[in-house]
Amino acid sequence: MTTLFETASLKNLTLQNRLVMAPMTRARSSQPGNIPNQMMADYYQQRASAGLIISEATQISDDSQGYSFTPGVYTDEQVEGWKLSTAAVKKEGAAMFCQIWHVGRVSHPVFQKGELPIAPSPLAPVETQIWLSDEEGNGKMVDCIQPREMNQDDIDRVIKDFAHAAKCSIEAGFDGIEIHGGNGYLIDQFLRTNSNKRSDQYGGSRENRLRFLMQVIDAVIAEIGADKVGVRLAPFITFKDMDCPDIVPTIIEAAKELQSRDIAYLHLSEADWDDAPVIPETFRVDLRKVFTNTIIVAGSYTLERAETILSEGFADLVAFGRPFVGNPDLVSRLQNNQPLADLDGATLFGGNEHGYTDYPTYTGA
Ligand SMILES: Cc1cc2nc3c(=O)[nH]c(=O)nc-3n(C[C@H](O)[C@H](O)[C@H](O)COP(=O)(O)O)c2cc1C
Repeated sequence: MTTLFETASLKNLTLQNRLVMAPMTRARSSQPGNIPNQMMADYYQQRASAGLIISEATQISDDSQGYSFTPGVYTDEQVEGWKLSTAAVKKEGAAMFCQIWHVGRVSHPVFQKGELPIAPSPLAPVETQIWLSDEEGNGKMVDCIQPREMNQDDIDRVIKDFAHAAKCSIEAGFDGIEIHGGNGYLIDQFLRTNSNKRSDQYGGSRENRLRFLMQVIDAVIAEIGADKVGVRLAPFITFKDMDCPDIVPTIIEAAKELQSRDIAYLHLSEADWDDAPVIPETFRVDLRKVFTNTIIVAGSYTLERAETILSEGFADLVAFGRPFVGNPDLVSRLQNNQPLADLDGATLFGGNEHGYTDYPTYTGA
């Protein structure tokens, strides 16, 4: 029987345990230039008793941004900035992957030099907002607007941007990259029938809706190798106007294709709200049949649920998000049955060390 605290292999890497820190946007990069800084390195180092840390979602280009102060990994300054985090995390024995994203229509002209955000189709996501801050850090939520439909040149350029960011991530000292293909961002927008109404080779059939994802994957693999590539997908989320009736079979099809590329892992972003539906076991069985490399799951996992899914063989690693915010020593707290601290929602996005690097480790009741 496997447990969360045993070592695990991830291609050429040996992870010190099966606990993963899930990617979490914290919006604290240095300005201007969205540059990762020492405070971020301290934050990740504090949490590096995990087996694997996946960074917060990180831009691949200027136009891939949708929220204030999220970092990038495509300029020399950003690469230098990330070296602080990757070196600090390595010291503690964790592996670290960089999650790279393009937000597509979940953006705003503020991040687009006044132009419209781009997307597979010119459809504004209903009831979807981005976080926009002034220079003093006073943030507010702002509605997304109708984006511009991407043409072939846009598609070709974004694919190149993903490959460039992957190369920069390796230069920055990451062990690999995670393509963000979930949670309603650009790749997810291509996968779903309700956000992708294209009539060319990128829309319509499952094969066509998967084309953009697979072209991104192939470009990134050509740049850094399949053993350094993970992908995050979100079969059961419906937020950001993502309720697509065909998404589950589309994702099973994607998993088949990703297995044929022999990538390092597939990471499921499962529904994470409190009354979320239970993921049907048939989905997990179907996924395991077609994807035999590492599967990571994330979404309201507890120690008990994590041990269960590992022992069932439906996952190899389990990611924790919110529990890592307030518990830098989450691994030892879970291992020693110690109580978990709550997080402070007011300091999640933007700001300084407060609510970021000043959560204490457990010192007893
Ligand atoms: C503050 C915060 C920021 C997040 N940012 C990201 C992100 O940048 N990329 C991503 O894929 N998921 C992001 N997520 C989702 C988490 O990775 C994770 O899937 C989710 O929190 C559910 O896991 P949990 O129940 O253990 O928190 C974020 C979640 C939170 C709470």
